[in-house]
Amino acid sequence: MIRSAALFAGGFLLAASAGWLVLPATLYRSAAQPFQFNHKVHTGEKGGMACNDCHAIRENGTFAGIPKLESCAGCHSEPQGDTKAEKEFVANFIKPNREPQWHVYSRQPENAFFPHAAHVKRAALKCESCHGDHGKSETLPLYQVNRITGYSLNVMGPSARTRNTHTPGMRMDDCVSCHRQHRLDHSCLDCHK
Ligand code: HEC
Ligand code: HEC
Ligand code: HEC
Ligand code: HEC
Ligand code: HEC
Repeated sequence: MIRSAALFAGGFLLAASAGWLVLPATLYRSAAQPFQFNHKVHTGEKGGMACNDCHAIRENGTFAGIPKLESCAGCHSEPQGDTKAEKEFVANFIKPNREPQWHVYSRQPENAFFPHAAHVKRAALKCESCHGDHGKSETLPLYQVNRITGYSLNVMGPSARTRNTHTPGMRMDDCVSCHRQHRLDHSCLDCHK
């Protein structure tokens, strides 16, 4: 009697912990980025570039997003240093004029509308408050997508238990809770087009 109870408890613990560890692992699929972009060499003391040099908010309020290869070519048609990473980038992308297909960590579904200008210019929020330290990173975090929601780990945020994200999460609740703190009351159609 005691023995079978112990066996049952043991089996239960084993199954529960397996579910806890294995399920989150299989819930996410990962995809490789085209190459390891290094923000720090560009935005640190050595590079001295501002976020706005590559991710501009244009005069008309639209956001440039991730820069196209043509904005890299200006500098990298001449060697900027002698690292292997730069040589590979020039050989694989600049020379053949092959546009890198970046996976966007914060990508929202098509029907959700997020304007950078309102947040960065009017509300003067720092990039870090939503994107963490990505702008200072030397290597890219693994890009992972939740198989059920289709959102990346960064959009899922801390709700994605047992996983470490360096960003606060960008689900609808996250948008709305910051808007509440700022006493904003947006209608569904402000964010859903
Ligand atoms: C030399 C151009 C360049 C500069 C300067 C630059 N970035 Fe980037 N940024 C990129 C490229 C290329 C990517 C795509 C690769 C990646 O995800 O890092 C990117 C991606 C990002 C992303 C990822 C968005 C997502 O959700 O996938 C964030 C956040 C970001 N940059 C923030 C910053 C911040 C903050 C700064 C200033 C501190 C900055 N960047 C300066 C070129 C640049
Ligand atoms: C204003 C000039 C400038 C622009 C524009 C620029 N870079 Fe760079 N890039 C540099 C400098 C400077 C370095 C550092 C060279 C060194 O000291 O090794 C660098 C280094 C690199 C490296 C090597 C990183 C490493 O870890 O050694 C890669 C890859 C790279 N850049 C990609 C890009 C991409 C992609 C873009 C466009 C989104 C871009 N660069 C735009 C100046 C620039
Ligand atoms: C209030 C939160 C917030 C702030 C502040 C913010 N972002 Fe974003 N960012 C987002 C969201 C949400 C997305 C996804 C938008 C989408 O998919 O439509 C995004 C997307 C991006 C992308 C990818 C865009 C693309 O589609 O290629 C880059 C690059 C980026 N942000 C850089 C920055 C930079 C640089 C700053 C500071 C100047 C900044 N962000 C400030 C929330 C924010
Ligand atoms: C401040 C911006 C904002 C407002 C206001 C807003 N939403 Fe959303 N909503 C989002 C974002 C971002 C997503 C995508 C991320 C997610 O699913 O959490 C989303 C997702 C959704 C989804 C899909 C959820 C899912 O799990 O697939 C529905 C349905 C939705 N919103 C309905 C509404 C309705 C109805 C209202 C008005 C009562 C509303 N939203 C107001 C930003 C907003
Ligand atoms: C860290 C706080 C914060 C987060 C997170 C945030 N917002 Fe906002 N948002 C603001 C503030 C503050 C404003 C008001 C800007 C102004 O007009 O001064 C605003 C304004 C807006 C507006 C109105 C823009 C306009 O032109 O009037 C939309 C749409 C919006 N946010 C969508 C989103 C969506 C979608 C998300 C989540 C993906 C989000 N926001 C996350 C703080 C935030």
